[in-house]
Amino acid sequence: MIGARSRSPRTPVLNTLGSHTARQLLRLCEVAGLDAADAADYARTLTTALGPVAERPLDLPSPSRSFLSDDHTPVEFSLSLEPGTTPTLRVLLEPGSGAGSLAQSGRTGLRAVRELARRWNFATDRLDELEDLFFPLSPQGPLALWCALELRPGGVPRVKVYLNPAASGPARAAETVREALRRLGHRQAFSALPEADRILFFALDLGDWEEPRVKVYTAHHDLSAVAAGGLSRMKDGTDPAEIEAFFRTASGIGDGQDPLLDRRPVQACHAFTETATGLPGGFTLYVPVRDYVRHDGEALERASVLLRRYGIDQAQLRDSLAAVTSRRLEDGAGLIAYLALAHQQGRPPRVMVYISSEAYEVRPPAVRSPQVEAVH
Ligand code: TRP
Repeated sequence: MIGARSRSPRTPVLNTLGSHTARQLLRLCEVAGLDAADAADYARTLTTALGPVAERPLDLPSPSRSFLSDDHTPVEFSLSLEPGTTPTLRVLLEPGSGAGSLAQSGRTGLRAVRELARRWNFATDRLDELEDLFFPLSPQGPLALWCALELRPGGVPRVKVYLNPAASGPARAAETVREALRRLGHRQAFSALPEADRILFFALDLGDWEEPRVKVYTAHHDLSAVAAGGLSRMKDGTDPAEIEAFFRTASGIGDGQDPLLDRRPVQACHAFTETATGLPGGFTLYVPVRDYVRHDGEALERASVLLRRYGIDQAQLRDSLAAVTSRRLEDGAGLIAYLALAHQQGRPPRVMVYISSEAYEVRPPAVRSPQVEAVH
């Protein structure tokens, strides 16, 4: 029926950063088996947390040079997969992107997290205690605050906040992290960390977690498979051979070869919960697979090998990629940003896949295999 409110097919639909990423999230929620009401709630939460930049038409350039993703979309999705259970969908976002200065971005970020806390009634005291460390008057660095939501059934997400240890300058990063850990009761944690090139993020779990973690992310340039195998400082639970095998598969390095990953640093995360021993209860290795493949088809193949190794069904990953983009995987590199392996005491290992929104740009495929270049 043609009514007064029908649209002409030529009416342009305004595609904004908010509507685009919300649509991606809605489709991902459907793949993850979340019900329509939860999905709609989470999509609204994403748009609200993004703030005014959500209204920005997508044909304008990205609102800031966000370090969150390669094309500066201030949103990234990820799946946490383990055998026998449905994968968990998460979304990482930068609430203060486009706020202007880094200082303003930090204030906007803090306000956004406090709004989430009021809405879901969780405490932010652990974050409040650290405000002077991570939000100085003239902050420096690649970010002020990011936040991630784990999208559980029921409409109440678990929340994670990511802060910048180099806010008072790279030379102060180690001291900032040591002091933040100390204030949270983890007096010995800093000395448990492995040697690293940089401390990239300091993260806190907020809200309804069984065991809220404090996490420290370190960057490791020119890392070899063997060195990756030796990074974990967990007291037990991580086998260097297993980490090494994950690293090899994710980065495409054959057995018997030991080249260094020199295109983008590998990251490690140590997670602290109890304060008695000073040792981490969790370790995650992040391989930036996008810089070591020709295209995303190859990245998906590597992810598939890993999922098979851990007895995890692949259907949801494939469907999730299709939920985010209609492009062919061979036509770009970077949809799959990272592959990660997480160990947490008392839990089976998890494989994590980070999926870019690509709202602004698709990186063209590499002409030759990056790994071949790295080896020769
Ligand atoms: N874009 C940045 C990077 O690639 C930060 C980042 C986003 C990141 N998502 C991540 C780092 C997941 C590690 C894991 O380094």
